[in-house]
Amino acid sequence: MRRRIVVVVGVVAVAASTVVVAVASTTAAGLPAYTNGYQKWPKLNAKPTRGTPLGRSAHNGLKNVYASKKKVGSKYPNGTVIVKSIAQTDDKPARPSQVAVMRKTSGRWKYIEYQLSGSRYTVLAQGQLCQSCHMQAKANDYVFTKR
Ligand code: HEC
Repeated sequence: MRRRIVVVVGVVAVAASTVVVAVASTTAAGLPAYTNGYQKWPKLNAKPTRGTPLGRSAHNGLKNVYASKKKVGSKYPNGTVIVKSIAQTDDKPARPSQVAVMRKTSGRWKYIEYQLSGSRYTVLAQGQLCQSCHMQAKANDYVFTKR
């Protein structure tokens, strides 16, 4: 009898910790938790930038680029997250209409971009599409914006 109670308690504890992990992986607004607090990271751009890069339609708006880590030599270390916020003039400052993210794991960048719909961010585009253009910044570890 006593043994059964211990087992039940154990299962409840595991279930509770699983819930905590699931909640921690995204922020309230739907962005991944690894972007949390990006607005306070050092900026890679001296001033907000505007315009459509390379004459194409990617990233159009008022832009700031934030990096969670500094380059070591010519490369960003594993675990670096780079966030570009892309605001339209009527956006509320805390919620830019688009958030583009590069995150380095195992020596490779993963690309994903979110778009605000209502009060939550949903995935706009990711992967190969992004990488094919960022190839042009290969000399700076695939990051266009330089300090
Ligand atoms: C047509 C080319 C092009 C495509 C496609 C593109 N980017 Fe970019 N990206 C740029 C350029 C150029 C910059 C430099 C800043 C600027 O002018 O907006 C940039 C900047 C960024 C930055 C800030 C770091 C840096 O490189 O300066 C992030 C993060 C980013 N892009 C993520 C993405 C993601 C995620 C996607 C795919 C959903 C994507 N990009 C697709 C051209 C592109």
